[in-house]
Amino acid sequence: MCIRDSIKAVAEAALRRLRTDVIDLFYQHRVDPDVPIEDVAGAVKELIQAGKVKHFGLSEAAASTIRRAHAIQPVAAVQSEYSLWTRDPEPEVLPALEELGIGFVPFSPLGAGFLTGKIDTTTTFHSTDFRNISPRFEPEARQANQPVVDCLCQIAEQKQATPAQIALAWLLAQKPWIVPIPGTTKLHRLVENIGAADVVLTADDLRQIESIVSEIEVQGARCLLYTSPRGSTSDASWGDHSCFACAPDGNRADTREKDRQPDAETVELLNSMRPSSQRHK
Ligand SMILES: NC(=O)c1ccc[n+]([C@@H]2O[C@H](COP(=O)([O-])OP(=O)(O)OC[C@H]3O[C@@H](n4cnc5c(N)ncnc54)[C@H](OP(=O)(O)O)[C@@H]3O)[C@@H](O)[C@H]2O)c1
Repeated sequence: MCIRDSIKAVAEAALRRLRTDVIDLFYQHRVDPDVPIEDVAGAVKELIQAGKVKHFGLSEAAASTIRRAHAIQPVAAVQSEYSLWTRDPEPEVLPALEELGIGFVPFSPLGAGFLTGKIDTTTTFHSTDFRNISPRFEPEARQANQPVVDCLCQIAEQKQATPAQIALAWLLAQKPWIVPIPGTTKLHRLVENIGAADVVLTADDLRQIESIVSEIEVQGARCLLYTSPRGSTSDASWGDHSCFACAPDGNRADTREKDRQPDAETVELLNSMRPSSQRHK
């Protein structure tokens, strides 16, 4: 199947699963180093022209890739890891997004939970949890990176907030076009995380956070190598992050999601926000 047909098949499968006739934001998730980004942008452009997609997004793309894609089909949003312990997008990607008027969606904004202060060297994870194989979650790295959490706890106490809220408020304070997407399976944490939008960090607070965190050298690579469907690999620490998250049939080889089911209260809340035809049982 050519790349154009493959992307269209992914879109059709997503439309079916979402039980909708248009996808608001269709991300390439992530960049495939074996496929010219112009071909990807061209395929998404056709989907937009056909009314099946409204906006085009990229995930973990390098600034140069974003520019090339944007020249073919304007990119609406880029989703990459960004938080107080993962500052990689700052030198190149964020300036490019600002210049081009593209929104930024930080994933893992709570450092996959570490920045909330609820994880220490003794915390264990489910056997399928990626943190078991993430260098950044090795016990030595957790211990070495604890000062980042201590900083968040210190500011949280001053602001009568929680460390998770400070981690999110810091992201929100960076640029008005930055929209973090924290993940949780618990309703009370969802409410807590939404509360971050009401936490105001002053210029002095931001300077204090920066002066503490800039002294800390974060230990442990943030993730492992990714392999594209055609076998090329790329490293999270430079440029594009490779691979499509969805196979053309829409099946994701991602046990992590299956093991992180939301609690009953959260399912009920989410269902109440959906049209009845889209509610989960
Ligand atoms: N584009 C990509 O390649 C990519 C990669 C990874 C993730 N993502 C997306 O990014 C989003 C979030 O990322 P993420 O889930 O990896 O990381 P995250 O939001 O940084 O952290 C989520 C973890 O923190 C815990 N947590 C959440 N709120 C908390 C709070 N207030 N206090 C204490 N613990 C809290 C959650 O546990 P509980 O569930 O127990 O609350 C979970 O273990 C998801 O939508 C995900 O799909 C995208």
